[in-house]
Amino acid sequence: MDTMADAGLAVVPLDAPLGAEIRGLDASRPMTPETLAALEAAWAAHFVLLLRDQSLDDDRLVAFSKNFGALDPPAPSPYTGESFLPAHPELNVISNVVEGGRHLGTLGDGEAVWHADMTYVDVPPKAAILYALEVPPAGGDTYFADMFAAYDALPAELKKAIEGRVAIHDAAHNSAGMLRKGYEEVTDVTRTPGARQKLARTDPATGRKALFLGRRPHAYVVGLPVAESDALLDELWAHVADPKFAMCHKWRRGDVLMWLNLCVLHRRDSFDGTARRVMHRSQIKGTERIV
Ligand code: OGA
Ligand code: MN
Repeated sequence: MDTMADAGLAVVPLDAPLGAEIRGLDASRPMTPETLAALEAAWAAHFVLLLRDQSLDDDRLVAFSKNFGALDPPAPSPYTGESFLPAHPELNVISNVVEGGRHLGTLGDGEAVWHADMTYVDVPPKAAILYALEVPPAGGDTYFADMFAAYDALPAELKKAIEGRVAIHDAAHNSAGMLRKGYEEVTDVTRTPGARQKLARTDPATGRKALFLGRRPHAYVVGLPVAESDALLDELWAHVADPKFAMCHKWRRGDVLMWLNLCVLHRRDSFDGTARRVMHRSQIKGTERIV
């Protein structure tokens, strides 16, 4: 049975190693259980989904997101320690815009290096949903890399080197490299604050293995001398950064991009800081400990 057609959706794989565009869905409207099931199946198969030409206010972004589970509140603003959207503290704002001295959102206009979100907590969010309200004319593209494919393609000796190994995921800095409020700069990576997660994650649904790296800065492979940990991590990161594992998304206003946070890494290009980029974002609570 073609559940996609039955649900009135078209799943169009992107011209890339991962990702698919969903056509025929208005995310501002309630979904039938059949449509939701079709969407979830497409998400599990493609890891990153794109919905174009959507029109969502914050309430509707929240309602759409809750179809996939309970929401995981974002880290507070690194500028104020408070929510960017007091009326919707379950949402985050990704933006470079500063109005009247107030930062609308986080991550600025610089590059955000490869990372997964909030892997520095014991049970990281399983997914994120990012909705574009304003996009710059150029730059600020977002990339995703498939961590199952990256694991599969590892040389045998690297698979062996990470077998059973655990790394510390830095809680002190955000994805733009900014020190979070209340944290001290990390000078010794063996004492980096943050959760310890397995480098090779086994997907509970499929039994497939995926690399689970979080982010490179201040990471440490527990039990190794620092130089060996750095060398191993550098090798793994050089491997996953190969464009053959990745897709690139060029944003249009009204895009909803949703990704499975435990299956892919993402990064963002810098852009001209005089242009405006404003995105609202939810994330879905995880249930999985990567140990
Ligand atoms: C995020 C993130 C990248 C972007 O929302 O977690 O890293 O393109 N955003 O803004
Ligand atoms: Mn991110």
